Amino acid sequence: MELIQTKEWKSLQNHYEQKMKSVHLRDLFKDNDRFNKYSIRLENLGILFDYSKNIIDEETKKLLLDLVKASDLKTWTEKIFSGEKINWTEKRAVLHSALRNMSDNSVFVDGKDVMIDIKNVLAKMEKFTDDLRSGKWLGATGKKIKSVVNIGIGGSDLGPRMVCEALKYYADGPAVYFVSNVDGADIYEVLKKLDPETSLFIVASKTFTTQETMTNANTARKWLVEKLGENAIKNHFVALSTNKEKVAEFGIDTNNMFEFWNFVGGRYSLWSAIGLPIACAVGFNKFKELLTGAYEMDMHFKTAPIEQNIPVIMAVLGIWYNNFFNAQSYTVLPYSQYLHRFTAFLQQSDMESNGKTINRNGEKVNYQTGQVLWGEPGTNGQHSFYQLIHQGTKMIPCDFIGIVNPPEKIGDHHEKLLSNFFAQPEALAFGLTKEQAIEALKASGTSEEDIRMLTPHKIFEGNKPTNSILLDELTPKTLGALIAMYEHKIFVQGIIWQVNSYDQWGVELGKKLANVILPELKQEKENVHDCSTSSLIKHYNKIKK
Ligand code: F6P
Repeated sequence: MELIQTKEWKSLQNHYEQKMKSVHLRDLFKDNDRFNKYSIRLENLGILFDYSKNIIDEETKKLLLDLVKASDLKTWTEKIFSGEKINWTEKRAVLHSALRNMSDNSVFVDGKDVMIDIKNVLAKMEKFTDDLRSGKWLGATGKKIKSVVNIGIGGSDLGPRMVCEALKYYADGPAVYFVSNVDGADIYEVLKKLDPETSLFIVASKTFTTQETMTNANTARKWLVEKLGENAIKNHFVALSTNKEKVAEFGIDTNNMFEFWNFVGGRYSLWSAIGLPIACAVGFNKFKELLTGAYEMDMHFKTAPIEQNIPVIMAVLGIWYNNFFNAQSYTVLPYSQYLHRFTAFLQQSDMESNGKTINRNGEKVNYQTGQVLWGEPGTNGQHSFYQLIHQGTKMIPCDFIGIVNPPEKIGDHHEKLLSNFFAQPEALAFGLTKEQAIEALKASGTSEEDIRMLTPHKIFEGNKPTNSILLDELTPKTLGALIAMYEHKIFVQGIIWQVNSYDQWGVELGKKLANVILPELKQEKENVHDCSTSSLIKHYNKIKK
């Protein structure tokens, strides 16, 4: 049955129309026990998830969880963890959970226990990073490697880049750089900082055919060979890929290749060999702790009842606003500079996964799917776009992420940061009434005339929903758990919306057309496009020097 025709969906629609669309958080908070009712603490991971500042009551929660039950999430969860090929358009299993499986249990794909290969690659990563960091692995001229450059894009960049930033405090290995954009400026600015004798390039690409990555890798290769000769490649290039032939073709010794597999989606790959730059920066043990945190979140997701299950609750809250309140986007706002790439990373995870229109039956859906996600770290965002969240016409649910005990301690920076972390959700939920606004204006000695003029501008309607996620500490383990928490949220939403969260056909057309246009920019070929595209290309060819 069509999702929106199900009784669960209709009940939610009804509940929204009849009740919740006109309920205010101020009224919901007359219940003093609300925090206890709507928060979840994971003691083993040091995570507190407070979702009390959402426009929900007991009935909403029940109806949302009825929707989860009707989606048969339980069966789908068994399928994903056991290696069933739930990515049906690519006929692939989806097993990022196996990459961080800390139990002794086997996981089978096509009758083969994938844990054997996973463990072998982990052992190879450990040996390599130990050698690199200790100076056993040397450059071609006998010098220790001081700089590592990860060349990759999308999932082969965003995950490891975000984690390297998040764990910078723990970084005690070589400096790690990331090059992703095919814009030559990206690699140019990195190469100019490097000494070829002490630099190592990691070419990270699942397919080893991605235009951006291969272009950057070839530029890096040329740069190195010009300085140190062909023979130096084996000491200065390693590959992370599923494609052995292409790696060999590029000229990287396949002994220096760290393999992963088709059951690892690009945007879920930081747990695989794609995590190598993380292990270079912070050491293999810390990388393992990251995996352990994700594994513990997997266990929470698999075993906690849905009423107490953080990813499930996050997912249904997202659906509540996306599909019933018609919210056009949501934000993730980390109050930690270390997490400054977290939202950028999540944008791919979430939007590439659930930005889909076709359901499991191959039909076009008639409801909204993937949430639009954006954000910046607090408090920078406060001085930028928060105005619109507080007083604009759109509802933008927010996830606030804070750290109780930061790794660094400087003066009272952290108290100041967290005072903002606590204040913003409070302001968003409860706002400022007309009476309060007038009172404040009077207290500041404003004239009667100005009070009349200013009052409407000083009112904050409030009733803006937020989640507050507090980590006791930002460690590899808690970070791993945080990432996995969002991964499972995305999975649950995909199941409810009945889309394939694990393919990404939508990125293909643009890539194909760029390949058609490339020879036209080199004036090797002429093609007919629409008048806009043709004129733009002609203009480019006329102006270019
Ligand atoms: O263009 C999107 C995409 O296919 C992502 O899904 C993927 O993470 C990225 O490109 C990079 O792909 P690869 O690792 O094969 O170079």
